[in-house]
Amino acid sequence: MKKENNNGRESFSSSFGILVALAGSAVGLGNLWRFPYLVGENGGAAFILIYLAFVFLLGIPILLSEFIIGRRSQASARKAFQILAPDENWGFVGLLAVICCTLILSFYSVVGGWGIEYLVKSFKFDFTSASDENLASMFSTFSTSTWTPLICHTVFLSVTAGIVVSGVKKGIESFSKVMMPVLFVIMIGIAIRSLTLPGGEAGVAYLFKPDWSEVDGHTFLAALGQAFFSLSLGSGMVITYGSYVKKHEHILKLSVETALADTIFALIAGCAIMPAVFAFGISPGEGPGLVFITLPYIFGKLPMGGYIAILFFFALLLAALTSSISVMEVIIASAMEEFKLKRKTAVISVFLGIWVLGCLCSLSLGPLNEWKVVGKTIFDLFDYLSANVLMLIGGLLVVFFVAWKLGKKAMHDELTNGGTLKIPNWVIDTLYFLLRFIAPAAIVIIMIFQYVS
Ligand code: PHE
Repeated sequence: MKKENNNGRESFSSSFGILVALAGSAVGLGNLWRFPYLVGENGGAAFILIYLAFVFLLGIPILLSEFIIGRRSQASARKAFQILAPDENWGFVGLLAVICCTLILSFYSVVGGWGIEYLVKSFKFDFTSASDENLASMFSTFSTSTWTPLICHTVFLSVTAGIVVSGVKKGIESFSKVMMPVLFVIMIGIAIRSLTLPGGEAGVAYLFKPDWSEVDGHTFLAALGQAFFSLSLGSGMVITYGSYVKKHEHILKLSVETALADTIFALIAGCAIMPAVFAFGISPGEGPGLVFITLPYIFGKLPMGGYIAILFFFALLLAALTSSISVMEVIIASAMEEFKLKRKTAVISVFLGIWVLGCLCSLSLGPLNEWKVVGKTIFDLFDYLSANVLMLIGGLLVVFFVAWKLGKKAMHDELTNGGTLKIPNWVIDTLYFLLRFIAPAAIVIIMIFQYVS
C-alpha cells in the first residue's frame, strides 16, 4: 500500500482503503449468519431475487444519501445534520443513529462472542468428536449458560475497542485491508468444498431456481429488512465513514462497489452453506440457529470437516469484527465531537457502557430469560428495536433529508464533485426519483406492514 504523505494519502490507497473499510462494515454476521437462514426460511432463489432488487433500487441510493451527508458535513452522525441544517432541529437523527448503534453493538458483541467460542471448539475438534445428540444440544447449552458467553462477549468487545482506539487509518483501515481479502479467500474455499459435495446440486437449484409460489408479503418484508441490516443503512455508519472521505473521491462508484461487495459475500455465504445443508438432508428453514447448530453437524460429517470448521469460524469472526468496529466508530466519533473527548477516553467509556448492556443481552438468553419487555427478552428487544425500528426510521429520515431538504443541486454537486466528474444526467435523475418517491414509499409500507401484521 502506498504510504501517507504530507498532503494526505495518495488516491489509490485511499479509495481502496475506504472501500475495504466500507465493505468490511457491510459484510458481517448479516451475510454469514442472517442471510443464509433467511434464504432458507423464505424459499430460496425467489427471496434472493427480491433481495437483489431492493439492494440495487433502494440500497445504493440510500448508501449514497448517507455518503452525501457525511462527506458534505465532514462530521460525525450526530453533528452532520446540525452542520448541514443549522437552523432546524435535525440533530436528533444523528442521536437516533448513535442509539441504534449502541443497541446493535450490545447484541452483536454477544453473537461475535459465540463466534469466539465456536472457533475455540473447532480448534479442539469438538464438532468431529461429538455425538449427534451432543451436537444438537451444544448451542443451546452454551448460549443459555452464564459465564462462558459473558467471557466471550468481553473478549470480542475488547478486541473491537482495541482496533477502534488505534484510529481510522491505523486501526480500522489497516485491519480491514488485510482481513477482507483473507475473508474472501476463506469463504470461496468453503463454497467450493460445499458446491462439490455429492447431493449439493439440490442446494444450488434452491439458491438459483426461483419458485415464486412461496412468495408473499412477508418475503418482501424480510428481504427489505435484510437489505437494510446487511448494508448497515440508517445506522449512521456510512455518514461516519463518509466524513473520512476526501472531496475528490467518486462516491457513487464507492456506493455501487460497497453494495456489490456485500452482495457477492452474501451469495458466497449462501453457496457455502446451502449445498451442504441439502447434501446432508437438513432443513434449510432451521432458523437463526442455522450457522451455529447446523454447520457444526455438517463439519462433523465432512471429510477434513474439523479443519473447515476452523476456517469457517475464523472467517465469521473476522467478518463480525470488521463490522463491529464500524458500529463502535459511529458512537466514538459522535462522543468525541459532542463531548470533546480524546479517542482513548471515548473508547473506554463506550466500552464500559456497551459491556454492561451486552452482559444483559447475553444473560437474557439464560438466567434472565424471564425478564421481558413487551414480551421480548433483552437480546430480542435490542435486535428488534435496532433492525426493525431505528434503522428503518433512520433510513427514512436520511432519504427525506437528502431528497427533500438538501435537494437536487446539492446531490448533483456531491455526485460530480462540484462538476469535475462526468456523470450522465439520467443517472442523477433516476437516483433522485428513487430517493424522492420510491425509497420513502417502500420504507413506509414495510414499517406499516410490520406494525400492523
Ligand atoms: N452490516 C453489518 C452486517 O451485515 C451489521 C451492521 C449494522 C454494521 C449497522 C454497521 C452498522 O453484519
